Amino acid sequence: MKLTGRTILITGGSAGIGLAFALKFLELGNTVIVTGRRQTVLNEVKAKYPKLHTIQGDVADSAQIATLAARVKAEYPKLDVLMNNAGIMLHKNLKAAAADLNGLMAEVNINVGGVIRMNSAFIDILVANKGTVINVSSALAFVPLPSAPIYCATKAAVHSYTQSLRFQLEETGVEVIELMPPGVETDLTAGLAEGGSVALMTTDELIKKSFAALKAGKLEIRPGQSNQLAFLRRLAPDFINKQLWKASKKLVPAE
Ligand SMILES: NC(=O)c1ccc[n+]([C@@H]2O[C@H](COP(=O)([O-])OP(=O)(O)OC[C@H]3O[C@@H](n4cnc5c(N)ncnc54)[C@H](OP(=O)(O)O)[C@@H]3O)[C@@H](O)[C@H]2O)c1
Repeated sequence: MKLTGRTILITGGSAGIGLAFALKFLELGNTVIVTGRRQTVLNEVKAKYPKLHTIQGDVADSAQIATLAARVKAEYPKLDVLMNNAGIMLHKNLKAAAADLNGLMAEVNINVGGVIRMNSAFIDILVANKGTVINVSSALAFVPLPSAPIYCATKAAVHSYTQSLRFQLEETGVEVIELMPPGVETDLTAGLAEGGSVALMTTDELIKKSFAALKAGKLEIRPGQSNQLAFLRRLAPDFINKQLWKASKKLVPAE
C-alpha cells in the first residue's frame, strides 16, 4: 500500500487502534479524517491533534452513513483510503435469555453491518480514485474466544466478506487489505486478563508490525499472535479452541 499523500477516512478513529493508525498516517504525510459516535471524545482528539479532521457518525445507522458519505465526498474529493475500524466487543452468557433481543444484535450491526454499509456508501469514490479499503477483523476470526461469541462470529464474517470483496474489486484497481490484530491494549480489551492465550500487545507494537506489512504490500496482515492462531487452527484446532475457552471462561457474565 502506498503510505503517503493519501486522503484517509478511519471509522472509530477517536480511540485505540483507529487513533493509533490515524496518528501514524498523519506522521507519514496523509490527510486523515476520523469518526466516532461521541462528539465529546472527538473534541478532545481534535484539541490534542489539531491536524486530524473529525466527523461524528455511527456506522450502525444507515442515515448517518449517507450523511457522512455526502459530506466526505464534497469536502475531501481525493478520498482514496477507507479504514473500516469501528467495532465493539461484548462478553455474553448464552445460557441466559437476553432481556433485549435488539440489543443482542449491537455487535452485528456495528462490526459487520458497519463495514458492509460503509463500503457500499464509499465504493464509487474509492473506484474513481483507485483507492484502498482496510477492513479490521481480528485474530478471533480464526478461533473464537467463547466468552465473546457474537463478537467472534462478526469477525469471522468480516474475514469472509473481505475475501469476496477483494475478488470482486480485482479489476477496479481498488486494493482490499484486511488487518487481523491479536489482543491489543485498548478500551475494548480492558476486561481481558493478561497472560496465557490472551496476552495483549501495545498499540505501538501493532503499528510497527502493521506498517511494516503494509509497506511490504501484504493484503492480509496478521501481527504477532494472530499469525500463530491462523497456524494453530489448522494444526491443532481442538487444542487451541479449548485453550481459548479455558482462558475466557471467567469472562462470561453471570447473566
Ligand atoms: N483491541 C483488540 O485487542 C482488538 C483485536 C482485534 C481486533 N480489534 C478490532 O479493532 C477495532 C478497534 O478496536 P479498539 O480495540 O481500538 O477499540 P476501542 O479502543 O474501544 O475504540 C473503538 C473506536 O470505535 C468507535 N466506535 C465504536 N462503535 C462505533 C460506531 N457504531 N460507529 C462509529 N464509531 C464507533 C469508538 O468511539 P465511540 O465509542 O465514541 O463511537 C472508538 O473510537 C475494532 O473493530 C476491534 O474489533 C481489536
